[in-house]
Amino acid sequence: MYSSDLLKGRVALITGGGSGIGLSIAEQYLALGAKVAIVSRNAERLKDAVATLQARDMKEIASFQADVRNYEQVSAAVNAVVNRFGSLDILVNNAAGNFFCPTAEMSSNAWRTVIDIDLNGTFHGCRAAYAHLRESKGDGCIINIITMQALSGWPGAAHAAAAKAGILSLTRTLAVEWGREGIRVNAISPGPIGDTEGAKRIYEDRGRADLERSRVALGRFGNKQEVANAAVFLASDLASFVTGENLIVDGGRWLKYVSEK
Ligand code: HXC
Ligand code: NAP
Repeated sequence: MYSSDLLKGRVALITGGGSGIGLSIAEQYLALGAKVAIVSRNAERLKDAVATLQARDMKEIASFQADVRNYEQVSAAVNAVVNRFGSLDILVNNAAGNFFCPTAEMSSNAWRTVIDIDLNGTFHGCRAAYAHLRESKGDGCIINIITMQALSGWPGAAHAAAAKAGILSLTRTLAVEWGREGIRVNAISPGPIGDTEGAKRIYEDRGRADLERSRVALGRFGNKQEVANAAVFLASDLASFVTGENLIVDGGRWLKYVSEK
């Protein structure tokens, strides 16, 4: 079942795949035989990521520049991936923006910016990829990266919490709308993940990393590979009867909301 060519013959597009969790998913998919395209705004970052992976003998990697807020750019990137690799089987909507900002101080544009990247960007990815995912020889697969703060609310990051909650709703809607067409749609909710821009902005820069660690049942931050492992499972045939799910990869962080220590 678990073999080194688990994703052979599959083509994946990962938004925000040039850094952090998205890059780790790209590495894992490549290592398991997939062809991978990473898509984001910063061409330099994408170029560096491609060069690093190719230097490790992962040749089936390409990058395309797009801002997920712009549907035409996303659609063009999707078409470029299909032209390059021949199909599109897996879409990972991972691109996101976030910063700590109490709601009373948040400008309308700050709110709109995060909703636009996270929620609208995810819709754009799904909508642009749909026709190709439907044509996939195996299951078409969408994985949306969210967070459990989508359900709890997120003091200091209301924009991101609302956006991610919208993505969870979209995940469940599309799982039903597109299920008969052979497209599975799932979410992953990572907890705090070390060595990422997200954890840096929300915990480390604010001196709250140790406090956050103490709030995780397993007592540590997760690592990027642990999130990528979940993304491998959901993209593979091992998850062939799994759709509309939110796979929590948070070391028990979510459950500690109800714990006294
Ligand atoms: C208050 C802020 C702000 C801040 C930006 N804004 N940063 N407001 N506090 N720290 C406001 C700006 O003043 C502006 O509003 C509006 O937001 C848009 O800002 P821009 O800089 O023009 O936006 P843009 O260049 O499009 O950049 C988007 C961005 C940026 C989200 C602001 O940070 C970015 O590109 N982020 C991508 C990387 C990232 O965020 N990674 C972390 C993902 S982690 P005004 O009113 O002034 O015009 C994650 C979950 C983490 O999502 C989970 C927990 C660990
Ligand atoms: P990251 O490295 O900053 O990843 C975000 C990526 O999104 C970047 O590669 C960025 O690339 C891209 N991006 C941002 N805005 C974009 C836009 N408008 N268009 C296209 N691409 C855009 O952060 P990360 O911590 O790895 O986060 C990855 C995902 O995990 C996010 O969805 C985040 O919400 C989720 N998450 C993270 C944690 C955590 O602990 N880190 C916890 C829970 C959930 P460019 O700058 O090149 O565009």
